[in-house]
Amino acid sequence: MKRLLLIPALVLLVLLSLGARKWKYAETPAEKARRMRWWQEARFGMFIHWGTYSLSGRSEWVKYYEKIPEEEYTKYFRHFYPDLYDPARWARLAREAGMRYAVITAKHHEGFCLWDSKYTDYKATNTPYGRDLLRPFVKAFREAGLRVGFYYSLLDWHHPQYTLDKYHPLFRNPNQAREENRHRNMKAYVEYMKNQLRELLTQFGRVDLLFLDFSFPGKNGKGRQDWHSTELLSLIRSLQPWIIINDRLDLLDFPGGWDYRTPEQVMPRGWVKHGGHRVPWETCQTITGYWGYMRDSNGWKSTRQLITMLIEAVSKGGNLLLNVGPTGRGAFPEKTVRRLKGIGRWMRYHSRSIYGCTQPPDEFKKPDNCLLTYNPQTRRLYIHVLSWPSIGRLHLEGYGGKVEYAQLLHDASEVKFTEEKGDVILHLPIRKPAVAVPVIEVFLK
Ligand code: GLC
Repeated sequence: MKRLLLIPALVLLVLLSLGARKWKYAETPAEKARRMRWWQEARFGMFIHWGTYSLSGRSEWVKYYEKIPEEEYTKYFRHFYPDLYDPARWARLAREAGMRYAVITAKHHEGFCLWDSKYTDYKATNTPYGRDLLRPFVKAFREAGLRVGFYYSLLDWHHPQYTLDKYHPLFRNPNQAREENRHRNMKAYVEYMKNQLRELLTQFGRVDLLFLDFSFPGKNGKGRQDWHSTELLSLIRSLQPWIIINDRLDLLDFPGGWDYRTPEQVMPRGWVKHGGHRVPWETCQTITGYWGYMRDSNGWKSTRQLITMLIEAVSKGGNLLLNVGPTGRGAFPEKTVRRLKGIGRWMRYHSRSIYGCTQPPDEFKKPDNCLLTYNPQTRRLYIHVLSWPSIGRLHLEGYGGKVEYAQLLHDASEVKFTEEKGDVILHLPIRKPAVAVPVIEVFLK
């Protein structure tokens, strides 16, 4: 009975304290827009999932899926030796692909840290490789002119104080977990997180973005109370006021609790909304179907699919964070490299339809088999033609009187057009231009 009363009382207390405390980091929409500007203009970033799980070749969830006990799982730690690691090369590949920022797993769910954290032994410097992996990464990416973000896992399958939940490899059933958790102290783990975040946000210079992963409130789950999310948030913001933070702290309803939404491995039907309003968003996507290195994946997306994904995200006002899973030797898989170079070939001629672009105003209707992006600064509209018309004409319904000039983007060759009853007809070559996705740049009146 006592217990029954305790829970609602606690909930009330938390709610009261949330409401009462004036949020220190509240900002106006204009201030937020300014903070987010580089990121919204960049549109395209690289996600990197790399850890000792890369040695398994069976993805970053292998410990959980295969219920691998700690003693056995450390074989990956004991054999971690990424002799081909060359972050300058990674940065070059990202840059050439047209990416403008990168987010790397400083720590994933397995708990292994790429940097020389003072608060754990489970880190790169204690592997046979023996060196910090994060510091050279930051240096190389910065030097290549890319923005740098850290992914930091809220989950931790290695830390002895992290309590079992439904996503823990040791979780068998609620009773077993409750029993085991009596020997674990989540508060101590939260302290650990705070200490590590302090390291990440004070020892690597400016950090542009933080990707915290993830919350799963409810039965046998974890959410804001478990992580002490608001405390983490104010710690982060106090250390790096300009940082951009994703939305996985379970603070969706909390003012300032997140900066952008992160639909994962899906393409939203339209601009992502929250409370009826369009919000900044980014979809993170894999190339292979998996985040960490997956040797035997059959799910490789083609270069053209990846390019289309980028265009589609921008056409709906969002970003694409495209993932690569380096091998245990520290190299990008060759198939990944080929795709990045292919994207880069397209971006070299078409990035103008990506950077600084967004969803066009509603008056511009999407023609069949096309995706539209729009640059509000230059007032140019970009028609991405996914399926080249066989009849040499592209019909733009309701565009009459709005078009000043049009050209193919890759070679700036004029596209002639005529007007017909309020519509515009573009006259295109019969042969599809030899680029993955041809783009017509339309100069609006
Ligand atoms: C999920 C997975 C994780 C991956 C992440 C990327 O939350 O747990 O493995 O890092 O999505 O968004």
